[in-house]
Amino acid sequence: MSNNPTTLPSWKKLLSLAETIQGKRTLSFFETEKDRTSNMSVHNDTLLYDYSKQRVTAEITENLFSLLNESGFEEKKKSLFSGEKINITENASVLHTALRNPKKEKIIVDGENILPHIHDALQRMETLSKKIHAGELKGATGEAINTIVSIGIGGSDLGPRMVFQALNQKYKSPITTHFVSNIDGEDIQSTLKQCDPQKTLFVIISKSFKTQETLTNAQTARDWIINSLPENADIAPHFVTASGNREAAMQFGLSEDNIYPMWEWVTGRFSLWSAAGLSLSLHFGYEVFHVLLDGAYNADQHFLNEPNEKNIPVIMALLGIWNRNFLQYPHTALLPYREKLKYMPSYIQQLEMESNGKNIDKDGNHITNYDTAPITFGEIGTNGQHSFYQLLHQGTIKVPCDFIGVIKDDSGLQNHHNLLLSNMLAQGQAMLQGRLNPQEPHLYFDGNAPSSTFLFTKMDAHDLGYLIALFEHKTFVQGAIWNINSFDQYGVELGKELAHKLESNDLSDADPSTKALISHIHKAEK
Ligand code: F6P
Repeated sequence: MSNNPTTLPSWKKLLSLAETIQGKRTLSFFETEKDRTSNMSVHNDTLLYDYSKQRVTAEITENLFSLLNESGFEEKKKSLFSGEKINITENASVLHTALRNPKKEKIIVDGENILPHIHDALQRMETLSKKIHAGELKGATGEAINTIVSIGIGGSDLGPRMVFQALNQKYKSPITTHFVSNIDGEDIQSTLKQCDPQKTLFVIISKSFKTQETLTNAQTARDWIINSLPENADIAPHFVTASGNREAAMQFGLSEDNIYPMWEWVTGRFSLWSAAGLSLSLHFGYEVFHVLLDGAYNADQHFLNEPNEKNIPVIMALLGIWNRNFLQYPHTALLPYREKLKYMPSYIQQLEMESNGKNIDKDGNHITNYDTAPITFGEIGTNGQHSFYQLLHQGTIKVPCDFIGVIKDDSGLQNHHNLLLSNMLAQGQAMLQGRLNPQEPHLYFDGNAPSSTFLFTKMDAHDLGYLIALFEHKTFVQGAIWNINSFDQYGVELGKELAHKLESNDLSDADPSTKALISHIHKAEK
């Protein structure tokens, strides 16, 4: 049997359904489907998810659910949660969901229940967090640590950085926290200028403990500490790490007690819930981190237990497939209307594009007759409105959009908040309705652009955890239908290998264009 989704009966049916809606206005679907807004929304204690503005009819959604069933999704979902080794290229389980799972259950990997290990690590994170908040975590000179510098990149940076930004105004902390990721020396240099070496703790996050950017930044931090503290000071109290490579971490000079685990059964971009989130727990306190985990756990329960027709991540995934594979839209935009969610587009970009930007299927075939992940981009509203929304409204392509709004204000400035929400709703409305009979041609708006709206009642640590986990599950569902391994990332490796060679002046593999650029750099450097 072929696992290629295009061979499934519903795939063929959906192709013909896509033709039947060509030229039809989405607005007209509201006339024929009287209960469209309630049928095409899911409402629970945390949010209202509305997808009535998408270019789907009841018949199309029915067939999307059939596609899901035909793809063997239920079995695949069971395999995910039960710890089967579904990351086949790395022979690993995929158990980010276990990281937020209460202790009472059992999850077996290689004959061992992993939950006690997870909870031991959480316990250690809690103890360290309490210590730093009590002013009892001391540096080499006896000064209390009051500054954290988190060093990591990709999945070891974007999650903690995004959550930090999202919660920083809401939860006060006596600690100052910075994030460093880029290999560009300006990143670490500008951060170190703001830190007192006696009071600074570096949290190095690297599952592999091999990542060039992270190790280079960590080394610079180490040199800075050594050069700033009295001679022969013990620098160990200034470094902790979350890593799956204990040997390398110890070789770097980390003391064993300061190494927190990351496991091979959690992929980097899904690792926020592990010790990769240590800087969050240290900054906000463990209780807040725990609430984040609870929110994600509740989203897991929703994903596990709700019927597909009312299952938010399943619907998100199916709409994404509809837009990408049947309506042929190559992009998708994430538009959070909340200043705090500023880094969410970058985070989701890695989650979706590193997971599902693949052209080799799970059976090792080159994928030639269907597309996988679209380009995900985004910006907070209202800022994006004054930049690329021009294209969203009047460009020659349609870009499906996800609007994220929060009903309760946190800023204390209700007039700002009302304007913020009105703007978000107006954009969705304009994308749906358009303006078809303007007085002047340049005032024409086609409309008919698909969008979904996530309306959260509030946005605290719980809701943020819930939101992130929804996107994780969406990513999984799409990978399951596209028959790809969403949990490896070999596409980022080739560039790394070549960079190592170029850095050591090995031009043996270099093409003429790259050689010419290098020769220009060498001349300009003189
Ligand atoms: O280069 C991509 C990547 O492998 C990501 O998948 C990962 O999150 C990031 O690098 C950092 O990796 P590590 O945690 O091993 O330093």
